[in-house]
Amino acid sequence: MKDKNDFIDSFDIDKRLARVDIISSIAHVKMLAKSKIIDQNDSNKIIIGLRTILHDLMKGWHLPKAEDVHYAIEQELINRIGPVGGKMHTARSRNDQVSTDLRLYLKDENKQLQKIITRFQTTIMNKAIENIDIIMPGFTHLQHAQPILASHHILAYAWMMQRDKERLIDCYKRIDVLTLGSAALAGTSFKINRYYTAKLLHFNHVSENSLDSVSDRDFVIELIFCIVMIALHLTRLCEEIILWLNPEFQYITINIRFTSGSSIMPQKQNPDYAEMIRSKCGRMLGNLISMITTMKSLPLAYNRDLQEDKFCIFDSLDNIKTSLKIINEIFSSIKFLKINTIKSTENGFILATEIADYLASRNIPFRQAHSIVTDIVQYCKQSSKSFNELSLNEYKRFSKIFQEDIFTYLNIYETVNRKKSFGGTSKNSVLQQIHLLKRKLQAE
Ligand code: ARG
Repeated sequence: MKDKNDFIDSFDIDKRLARVDIISSIAHVKMLAKSKIIDQNDSNKIIIGLRTILHDLMKGWHLPKAEDVHYAIEQELINRIGPVGGKMHTARSRNDQVSTDLRLYLKDENKQLQKIITRFQTTIMNKAIENIDIIMPGFTHLQHAQPILASHHILAYAWMMQRDKERLIDCYKRIDVLTLGSAALAGTSFKINRYYTAKLLHFNHVSENSLDSVSDRDFVIELIFCIVMIALHLTRLCEEIILWLNPEFQYITINIRFTSGSSIMPQKQNPDYAEMIRSKCGRMLGNLISMITTMKSLPLAYNRDLQEDKFCIFDSLDNIKTSLKIINEIFSSIKFLKINTIKSTENGFILATEIADYLASRNIPFRQAHSIVTDIVQYCKQSSKSFNELSLNEYKRFSKIFQEDIFTYLNIYETVNRKKSFGGTSKNSVLQQIHLLKRKLQAE
């Protein structure tokens, strides 16, 4: 900060709105001419001026710095075409302008985010198809619970991403509102046509209350929340990737590109990329809290505090897009170590529920079956045996119902494939799940 004026400047952050600012200004000026508020010739001059600025920007030219991007473009326009450029700001204020610019920008970002999510879901789906026969332990409380297909496990994340995308689609509706024409706060005496501006800028709705329009940032908060939710889901996935890479698990390998060494321990290949993605949720939640706290108790209408919104939303967007792109690459590189995943199902009496189900399907009340199997597990632990090492006679000591077929029942593949309920882990159910997911992704 060079002097106190710099403290209120936002150019360095909002300069990325330059493109949408020019686009919204062109629409505004067209509307002003059509509504006969400014002369058609003046309008043409302004539009040509704005287009040349946009053209130069696209070629990499830098806009001279000003207090914010809106002033910077207006000053540049006046430098290029003379005082007539000043007519551009008729019947508007920076308050409705910044809201409209941000909405235009976020509509595009929201759509981009949806596309990136779909790409990641496709990667998950392909990985699930590729590994459809791999069995691993399913966990509850991070303890061995029941065997499941690895595909079933990873597909859970594709459905989280689906909900995240649906949340974005819903949030989009509330971003898609034209606020331009609200002017500073009161509306304007000029006979503007807001519906025409909305049509030019492809906004689906026009805001109904000028005070609300210039001071509302719900749409920013909502989008940051949608991003936090995606980031939260990614933390869960990254945590599992980190766990599965751990030598005690060794369920997967990932491309070495996504690991890094230690400065002291030569053997290390740390999962830093997954860790960094996992870390981002905290920062994004910080942005959400920051934005909510900034809005809290703000009186109507516009207040300068709102300028901070861009820092929060841009940071969240940048980080989530990069995180999603990286996780997509990490995920494509995952290779399941089948020998280890199956070996891991041999620990922890993972088939205990199967034995209880065996009894329950032979007319023993499930609660009773559960208690019988608890006793069998105790017995196995005391005699250091696994379920498969017990004889039929030993089983019969706990219940007369047990027959020879208990041993075929305890086959791990059959166990998984018996979970045929809709949404379950049998191969057929998972294939059906993949089919449903594919249909959703294709419908977009
Ligand atoms: N840079 C400001 C922002 O981002 C633009 C609006 C300024 N309006 C004002 N009345 N000072 O919010």
